[in-house]
Amino acid sequence: MSKVIGTALLAAGEGTRMKLNIPKPLAPLLGGRMIDFPLEQVEKFYHDLNITGSITAITGHQRDLVENYLQERNGQLKGEPIQFAFQRQQLGTADAVRSYLASNPDLRNCEYTLVICADTPLISSEELSLLFLQLRDGKLDGVAATFETSNPTGYGRIVRPSSGDGFHIVEEKDANDEVRQIKEVNSGLYIIKTSFLVKQLETIDSNNQAGEFYLTDLFQDSQAVKAVLFSTGEKFLGVNDMVQLETAARYLRYQKNSNLMRSGVRMIDSLSTYIDWKIDIAPATVIYPNVIIEGCSQIGAGVTINAGAVIRDSIIEDEAEIKAYSHLDSCHVGQNAAIGPFARLRPNAEIGANSKIGNFVEIKKSKLAQGVKVSHLSYLGDTEVGEESNIGCGFISCNYDGANKHLTKIGSHTFIGSDSQMVAPIQIGDRCFVASGSTITNDMPDDSFAIARSKQSTKEGVAKKFLKVKKK
Ligand code: UD1
Ligand code: CA
Repeated sequence: MSKVIGTALLAAGEGTRMKLNIPKPLAPLLGGRMIDFPLEQVEKFYHDLNITGSITAITGHQRDLVENYLQERNGQLKGEPIQFAFQRQQLGTADAVRSYLASNPDLRNCEYTLVICADTPLISSEELSLLFLQLRDGKLDGVAATFETSNPTGYGRIVRPSSGDGFHIVEEKDANDEVRQIKEVNSGLYIIKTSFLVKQLETIDSNNQAGEFYLTDLFQDSQAVKAVLFSTGEKFLGVNDMVQLETAARYLRYQKNSNLMRSGVRMIDSLSTYIDWKIDIAPATVIYPNVIIEGCSQIGAGVTINAGAVIRDSIIEDEAEIKAYSHLDSCHVGQNAAIGPFARLRPNAEIGANSKIGNFVEIKKSKLAQGVKVSHLSYLGDTEVGEESNIGCGFISCNYDGANKHLTKIGSHTFIGSDSQMVAPIQIGDRCFVASGSTITNDMPDDSFAIARSKQSTKEGVAKKFLKVKKK
């Protein structure tokens, strides 16, 4: 069955000014890719207005990379999968829409066609709804979103006739001096009745300065079309280079942080807080400046994240505290645990509730039960520690023999003295005591004590032999 709206998402261009080695739609943006943003907003627009709609990405340049990415996204989301249309040569925006219509006969039967570019990541569902209602309620054939700018260079200019509601668009390259003065410009976002679009596409040629098929030529003064002027152009920012990519990222970051603050997250300085788009943070959490939270991290309620912490793909449970300059990657921090300052949790570090990981501690692929303390200067790799055990300062799990990694298992309520090493594979029982400075190479049963260091010998009066006197 045909949908009410078919969306053509233009993503075939090369984006040369980005100077990226990946296609422009895949430019990184707040932990996602640029193309995610228009996609998400079109989906939200369909949902908000209860519209049935399809989305087709028109690909061309480095098509495989764009399509593979979107296929992966299709696999992850429950909604309607994104379709693809291939534009063999980038002959212009009208040619891109022709490729779109040719890709699937159903698309001609959608009542409306929405055209949006993959490189306009700030357009939100609000603009899409507003534009759509103007078209539908005004019984028009097509609408284009426009805005005014003091620097219209590069944009198509909106030319409104002295009478009537129609308009047409003149591209920069084809504009005379008078038209170039016009400050109202085309955003590149359109919704068009599909029957009108199909008819108009038949008439569009490439007789212009660029030798391209311009989609903008479908709007003519004599037709039932309307240029809908938006009060500001900031949402229509087109990303063509790294400067504009940063501008877009700032805008989205401001939105993300504002939404989090409205939901009860406290930020000491939101302008220096960097949180990826998809990340959830529960209320009453406090975030200090220069914190970076990336990927698919989830942060609970009442968490404190101090200055300079970097958290990637990690889960932090309620009331935990991440102290300054800690680095967390793909790990799990339990409720009310304290991490850092200057701690490093590497992939698959699982820290139990109420545990304390102190400064200069590195933990990799290890599972700590609740109430474990590793307070200073230690390395735990491939290690399990039972509840309420205490690992003294300067502990090392010797997990690597040069070829393979081995497990260290430490039971619960065990005390490991400072400056001890466990040569893995090794198993230490519950309620054990390891004396400071021990290198443990043999398993220890529950309730055992081990000391493994050379005996001290003290010789009275011998120190002066070793003490050097500085020459003046
Ligand atoms: C276009 C508009 C211009 C508008 C501006 C807004 C036309 C003719 N002009 O100009 O009026 O002010 O956007 O940013 O449409 N693309 C394809 N296939 C092609 C050509 C382009 O998929 O053959 C895609 C590009 O990847 C891009 C989008 O269409 O996402 C716009 O193309 P671009 O060449 O950037 O058009 P502009 O010159 O910016
Ligand atoms: Ca452009």
